[in-house]
Amino acid sequence: MTSTLVTGIAELVTHDPSLGDDPLGIVTDAALVVDAGRVAWVGPAVQAPDADARVDVEGRAVVPGFVDSHSHLVFAGDRSAEFAARMTGEPYDGGGIAVSVAATRAASDEELRALLARRVAEMRAQGTTTVEVKSGYGLTVEDETRALRLAAEVTPETTFLGAHVVPPEMREDRSAYVDLVCGDMLGAAVPHARWIDVFCEPHSPHAFTEEESRRILTAGRDAGLLLRVHGNQLGPGPGVRLAVELGAASVDHCTYLDDADVEALAGSDTVATLLPGVEFSTRSPYPDARRLLDAGVAVAIASDCNPGTCYSSSIPLAISLAVREMGMTPAEALQAATLGSARALRRDDVGHLAVGARADLTVLDAPSYLHIPYRVGVPLARALDLGPTPTPTPS
Ligand code: NIG
Ligand code: FE
Repeated sequence: MTSTLVTGIAELVTHDPSLGDDPLGIVTDAALVVDAGRVAWVGPAVQAPDADARVDVEGRAVVPGFVDSHSHLVFAGDRSAEFAARMTGEPYDGGGIAVSVAATRAASDEELRALLARRVAEMRAQGTTTVEVKSGYGLTVEDETRALRLAAEVTPETTFLGAHVVPPEMREDRSAYVDLVCGDMLGAAVPHARWIDVFCEPHSPHAFTEEESRRILTAGRDAGLLLRVHGNQLGPGPGVRLAVELGAASVDHCTYLDDADVEALAGSDTVATLLPGVEFSTRSPYPDARRLLDAGVAVAIASDCNPGTCYSSSIPLAISLAVREMGMTPAEALQAATLGSARALRRDDVGHLAVGARADLTVLDAPSYLHIPYRVGVPLARALDLGPTPTPTPS
């Protein structure tokens, strides 16, 4: 294995607090050495040690690769007509998920594998180096297992979301579907999944109630999976408090929160993951990130890339929306899309570039990270390819 010296870094964001007063751990005119897929040295270019190979990024900024801790990439078909209807006032209630379920069930393994690979490549081309992928468009034992098996080919961060909605064929017997999710479906999912998730949303007739969600999450935990929750997306509800009560790593959406929700999050290890692409694509009010940060809540930003509420895989767009619409500074937004989302996945090897971290570098065609939201919509970010890296190992 050869070491590589990366030079020409105008601004390097490390998130390493030992590298100075700046909360982002910024080093200007920096260099970085990668060895065996890990960061081996970071510092001013003038002090850089020698290495076997060199890569010059020619005055660009380098930031930690984006960690997208929430996506639904295993699906076929699209719902662009639903998007268009929403732009003229149609509300979102989760009903369209059944359309994606039908298209996904009808697709072959090869079709789904190719669609998934293309979406992961699209993310990487925009600077994302770690991605979580959920099932949830299969909703039978076979189709959920297939989605997780395919997802596990591209990431270790796989999430069983059999409790996305009650599938149309079981609408008359919700409790039988919950039994199936907690029984045979969970059993088949476990070998391919690290996480379990539930769409806990009393404001959707298709999603799950507090009691159903508690049952499903508890069964998942008992089977050895770690927990995450879709909560408080469409209105106030029990999702956040349930996630905190059960020790979930993350509760995602958090659009409608009351004071008790914010207080519960602040005193917990549960990260509030915000998905501003969803509010953009559903014409909904944005979550109040400022309120969460001021209360001391750990905040992450992710894409929620999915065919319904947000068919965008762009973390730079999510950062731009967080800054423009959610009261975050550019520094807070970048941190939330790297360190924060790594924490939402309980990972300490990604989301930062301190010595020892995975060498997941994202390079910007710009001199500073500030250009991510400043140059909104311009494709500045891409993952830097430095050759083979070790297999990702969740800590
Ligand atoms: O995170 N809220 C539930 N699930 C997805 C949407 C899925 C869909 O509409 O296809 C979300 O927004
Ligand atoms: Fe989602």
